[in-house]
Amino acid sequence: MSALLGGMLAPGERPGTYVIRGRGTRLTLADGREVVDGGSMSACILGHCHPAVVRAVQRAAETVYVNDTTGWAPREQAARDLLEFAFAGEPWADTVALFVSASEAVELGLLLSRELTGRTGLVCRELSYHGCTGLGRSVSSHPLWSASLAAPDDSGTTLAPDDADVRRLPVPICGLGEYPPAHVCAESCLLGADAKLSGAAAVIVDYSQGCVCPSPQYQDTLAAMARAAGALWIADETVTAFGRLGRGFAFQRGESRPDIVSLGKGISGGAVAAGALVLSRDVVERIGARRWTTSATYRGNPLASAAISATMSVIRNEGLIERAAALGPRFGRDIREVAARHPSVERVVGDGMLWLIQLRTDREHTESTWRGTGGSGLPGVVQSAAVDHGVYIGVHSGQSVWTVPPLIISETELEEIVAGLDHGLEAADRALADARAA
Ligand SMILES: Cc1ncc(COP(=O)(O)O)c(C=O)c1O
Repeated sequence: MSALLGGMLAPGERPGTYVIRGRGTRLTLADGREVVDGGSMSACILGHCHPAVVRAVQRAAETVYVNDTTGWAPREQAARDLLEFAFAGEPWADTVALFVSASEAVELGLLLSRELTGRTGLVCRELSYHGCTGLGRSVSSHPLWSASLAAPDDSGTTLAPDDADVRRLPVPICGLGEYPPAHVCAESCLLGADAKLSGAAAVIVDYSQGCVCPSPQYQDTLAAMARAAGALWIADETVTAFGRLGRGFAFQRGESRPDIVSLGKGISGGAVAAGALVLSRDVVERIGARRWTTSATYRGNPLASAAISATMSVIRNEGLIERAAALGPRFGRDIREVAARHPSVERVVGDGMLWLIQLRTDREHTESTWRGTGGSGLPGVVQSAAVDHGVYIGVHSGQSVWTVPPLIISETELEEIVAGLDHGLEAADRALADARAA
């Protein structure tokens, strides 16, 4: 029995895997096994317990406790470090607001868009995920993280839709892996999108959730449509920022630039809870002399500020974005090659150091309907067989697994991850064949 009601669990339930230690790219499990971390936490871009981040956080913990309305110079430094390093070459990126999490950043970004435009409509795509509360949850249509109460067999109620004016674009075909060179988003994935954008405050786009990685063409077409409609574009880079897709940001794969970028996860190297919004100069000018009347005790707290600054400097000093760009193509090619050999694989989506593997599975566990725990079904089978092979592969949803290794990972370890995935997929092939024979 557990005293804790854990994420994605029922009262009294406990997670299947416990870890006791992480160092660099390695995790030690509670049963003593050591595994390569191929994706226990996408935030962990510097690996576990990077000494520079640990030292910075330790120093900050011995300094002062301060909330976000009291001046704290290292908080301002963290904002400068973020802009001057991560947004170097992006002169439109002007001002940073710090938050406790990406969920909170998204929420406030959506509220700010409403305030600036005087409109309420919010546009998102199907199978997205942007946060666990409020408007962020309203624009998230992935069923797995819907905050509803799902029985183990997925029976029971679903939360009634709230009354937010949310308009959903279909899952873009170009976001499902390879697509023909002649594909034109304006004539397919985004056909009719202008009607949904009409009168909307903002459109929010992310590049990974639901096993969907929209193409640069999709981004650029949608950005132009949003601009024409007077809606702001929020690029949700919570997962994809800081090199994950082999670029500083996913939006840099396209030509267009967002009005607002939401950040979280890797911004603090996974060490401390933190989120941020980066506002364009235009957005800042539209705010003008008005004060943004929002504050929260732990936003930009000393530990988070220290972790953000240290993370930016490690990424720069260790050339981790360049590293992701160099290692990503071969990693992706190897994953695709392995996946092609396994009947349990439906498709592979990703770029750089983020690869999602969607599995062929029974109807109840599909990406678009399954609300049960992500550990059920084939993804759990892949994970546990990969762990037996010395590699931690992340369960991403009821139908998919992913690998999002730390960007400090070596080429040999990437090969180990691919081998572990291969092993996991063999187990999934067997489980799928058994299920079909039964
Ligand atoms: C794209 C995206 N946006 C926002 C969030 C919310 O982040 P957090 O859970 O850290 O608040 C997530 C979390 O998975 C995410 O994937």
